[in-house]
Amino acid sequence: MAKPVIWISRKLSDATLARAQRDYEVIWDAADKPGSAEDIIAMSARVDGMIPCHSEHFTAEVVAQLDPRLKIIANHSVGVDHCDLKALKARGITVTNTPGVLSDATSELAMMLMLGAARHAVAGDRIVRSGEWQSWSPALLVGKQLSGARLGVVGMGGVGQAFARKARGFDMEIHYHNRRRLCVEEEQGAIYHDELDDLLAVSDFLSLHCPATPETTGLMNAARLARLPRGAVVVNTARGNLIDEDALLEALETGQIGAAGLDCFVNEPGGNPRFAAHENVMMMPHVGSATVKTRDAMGFKALDNLDHFFRGDVPPDQL
Ligand code: DGY
Repeated sequence: MAKPVIWISRKLSDATLARAQRDYEVIWDAADKPGSAEDIIAMSARVDGMIPCHSEHFTAEVVAQLDPRLKIIANHSVGVDHCDLKALKARGITVTNTPGVLSDATSELAMMLMLGAARHAVAGDRIVRSGEWQSWSPALLVGKQLSGARLGVVGMGGVGQAFARKARGFDMEIHYHNRRRLCVEEEQGAIYHDELDDLLAVSDFLSLHCPATPETTGLMNAARLARLPRGAVVVNTARGNLIDEDALLEALETGQIGAAGLDCFVNEPGGNPRFAAHENVMMMPHVGSATVKTRDAMGFKALDNLDHFFRGDVPPDQL
């Protein structure tokens, strides 16, 4: 029987590509460029399935032009805000994602950003590298301590829970806001806040782990940033549009926000050049899940979903 034909839009891990090429006829371009709307539409006539990343946008307009040959989109991402799920469902195209497997890698990066922002990692690195470090001083780069501080976690899904676990190891007091209360968190002493505003009022550190939806766009606006205790540290490894960037820049300028750690931006790639003027902002180019182990796990999960689908089963991560 002929193997199904699939398109892999980006340079996935070697192990993923090897397994995909063993089991499927794979169309893949080592140039590793984001697929444009035209690429996606043209490719849909050549393949039975796709493994895209969040860099390929399945807007309603694109979905309307997909060829009926395309049956499944097995995303190599947990976030699916790049897909118009309603339009895809209406076209009868199966969509899957990769939940669970990137929780540890992403929460590790969130810890790095939280620590780096709190302890002036960007300025410290610059001072040592540039040779500006002339004397030790008790006043040099005095930061904010994690232990004993209150951490607010917005969104207690897989990544939020993995982050809370790590933060507990740093002796932080965990508070959270989520669509539903989680016994498993409360057994560990986490404090639930039904209202986001109540969580913000007690968060010396705040980390965002919720999906990007129309309801969460601009979630951290000027009013919400103002509710945080003065000098709070804000971390975002979820999606850029959860934060109103102008409001965050303003809050950094007034000192209302003491520091920020950002892996996601409204404008990607590129980010927001205005943050570069702030050494108390530590930035990364959307690489929360970028570890060797997790890239393999994400690729394998996407392939597991395809395997189930082409065997005639329901894929485990069907949305
Ligand atoms: C995800 O999986 O959603 C990450 O942000 C990478 O795309």
